[in-house]
This record gives sequence, structure tokens and C-alpha cells, in this order.
Amino acid sequence: MKKSVIQSTGMFVPPNIVTNHDLEGFMDTSDEWIRKRTGIEQRHWIDSDKVTGASDLGFEAAKRALDQAGWTPEDIDFIIFATLSPDIMFPGPGCLLQAKLGLDSTPALDIRQQCTGFLYGLATADAYIKTGLANRVLLVGSEVHSSGLDKSTRGRDVTVIFGDGAAAVCIEGVETQADAGLLATSLHADGNYAEALMTELPASKFPQRMIPGLDIDDARYYPVMDGPAIFKKAVKMLPKVINESLEKAGMDLDQIDLIIPHQANLRINQALGQYLKISDDKIFHNIQKYGNTTAASIPLALHEAVEQGRTGKSGDTVLFVGLGAGLTWGSIIYRYL
Ligand code: UT7
Repeated sequence: MKKSVIQSTGMFVPPNIVTNHDLEGFMDTSDEWIRKRTGIEQRHWIDSDKVTGASDLGFEAAKRALDQAGWTPEDIDFIIFATLSPDIMFPGPGCLLQAKLGLDSTPALDIRQQCTGFLYGLATADAYIKTGLANRVLLVGSEVHSSGLDKSTRGRDVTVIFGDGAAAVCIEGVETQADAGLLATSLHADGNYAEALMTELPASKFPQRMIPGLDIDDARYYPVMDGPAIFKKAVKMLPKVINESLEKAGMDLDQIDLIIPHQANLRINQALGQYLKISDDKIFHNIQKYGNTTAASIPLALHEAVEQGRTGKSGDTVLFVGLGAGLTWGSIIYRYL
């Protein structure tokens, strides 16, 4: 039976680094508050005077992943693009990326699952591969948050946590008897919490999408979050969904070599480690450098974990886990072939 195998990873973040001290320059916040409450030290934001969409960052990450896999764009038979910050209202960045890769008929699918976009994307890639609909899938997670953040004190709880960036993986169906590939997948959503983290405008639900007379500073143009509520949900649901996947795979936690969680808040991931009673070096963290890059966060962490030699060898088993807007949450256990 075919197994979905991650053949390569690639990442790209815009070169412009924004430190916590830089943020102090335009809102009432402090380096001390941000480090203490989130673990974040800096993030990358696109240059504010250049046009850069999610597909542009995704293109850079995709090129690197393709190079590493030894694939040309023509080798891809399905593109999956996960983002909450598409370049334009429509068409989606999957199509824009496809054209940037020089392709003109390869199917492209967008996923709007925010922080779990990579998990939903990986599960979708696996399903396409197992049903024979595709064999070589390019999965990209990419976000340009900075152009849509409220940079006044009003938006400080959200704005200090988000960073721009992209990461891509090349996934291939390989015929093997080995116990490798996706060993268990658990995905969930609860739309009752949609308003706990959302950007409301522009919205098709209103009779006039561009509301006449509405000021550009209207709070509804910017992401709003009930941070403490999401924090509590994460601390409760992440261990639960990890156990669900372990049970499905018939595995114990000590058979997982590395947990690669969504990077939303260092404290959430440290609390997860304490709850699971595992040492901190079994959980991968890089939020300090990039902040929360939403759909890019898990593949970006995977890329760095592979680069640092913490996973990627045959038999290495990782567990991806995350929770975010939707709400959506999930976990996937993956073993390298
Ligand atoms: O990836 C998507 C999913 N999102 C998450 O997982 C995020 C989960 N939530 C969080 O990470 C945390 O809730 C935050 C980092 C967003 C906020 O941390 P918190 O410890 O929950 O703070 P809080 O919202 O309870 O606010 C505590 C205080 C408030 O002041 P008062 O009312 O106590 O005077 C806030 O106004 O901190 C204030 N505050 C800030 N102060 C300085 C909120 N944001 C800031 C800020 N700088 N950036």
C-alpha cells in the first residue's frame, strides 16, 4: 500500500526583522510583557513599501522544497495552499503560486483552516495519495499578517504575536510495507467559537460588502481574539487530541521522538509538556524568532527541526499538533520512511 512520505521541506521568511522594542515605538507594549506572556523575541514582517502576498512567500519556500526534493514544478501533480491571509479576495493563492511556478494546468486547492491549515493539508494530501488522485503533492503554508494588523494599542494583544513567513513540503506516495508515513490523523472543528478569533471585514454577509462611510480604522477590519479563552481551550484540547492520535496508532507517548506543535505561545507549549510529563527537549520551539506564523508555523518548525538534526532520519517519529481560529484543532503522527 502507498504511504505518504515527506521528501523535503523548505522555508522562507521576509528579511525584515521586527523586534519587541520596535513594537514599543508604535503601541503601548513592552519587550518584557511580550517575552513573559508569549516567549516571542522578534518576528519577520514584509517590507511595508513592497507588494508581497502569501503566494510570493509561498513561492520562495516552494522553490527551496522542490530543489531539496530534486523535483521540477512539472513533477507536482497537486498543489495545496494553506493560509488565512490570501493575496487577494479571490482567486486563491494556490492558483497564484501555480502560475508563479510556471505551470498552467496542475490542480491547486486552498485551505482556510488557519493555525491547523498544515494539519488539514497533510491529511488531504494523504487522502489524495491513498485514493490515487495524486502522487506528488506540494503543500504550502504561508501568511502575510503584518499588512492586516491593528498597529495601535487597541490591537496589541493580537499584533505582537503574529509574524509573516512560509514553509513548504513535498509529499510523495511510495509503495512500501514499512510502518511509515501518516500513522494516525485526528482533526476537529468547533464553529461555535468562530468569534473567539476572527477578522470580520470585508464580509460578503452584509448587503454591501464595502460598507459606505466606514472608517478604515474600524476595529472590524482587524483580527480580534479572546486570547485567554483560546489559551484555555488549547491547554485542554491539545493533550486530548494527542492522546486520540496515539490511541488510533496504538502507540505510547514514549514512541514519539519529537512533538512539533503550532507555535502560538511558548507558555501553551510548555504547559503541554508539563501536562504530558515530558522533558522540554521533546517539544520543538521556534516561536522566539518568528512569532505565530499560523499556517506556516508547523511546517516551518518541521523544516528547522530537520535542519537541526532533531528529526528526518528513517524511523524518526514526530507528532504534529495545533489549535487555532475556527476553532480548529488536530494532531498527526508521522514516521519517516
Ligand atoms: O494561533 C492562534 C491561536 N491563538 C492562541 O493560541 C493565543 C492564545 N492566547 C494567548 O497566547 C494569550 O492570551 C495572549 C498572549 C494573547 C495574551 O496573554 P494573557 O496572559 O492571556 O493576557 P491577557 O489578555 O489576560 O491580558 C493581561 C493584561 C491586560 O491588561 P489588564 O487588563 O490586566 O490591565 C491586557 O490589556 O495584559 C494587557 N496586554 C498587554 N500589555 C502589554 C494585552 N496585550 C498586551 C501587550 N502589551 N501586547
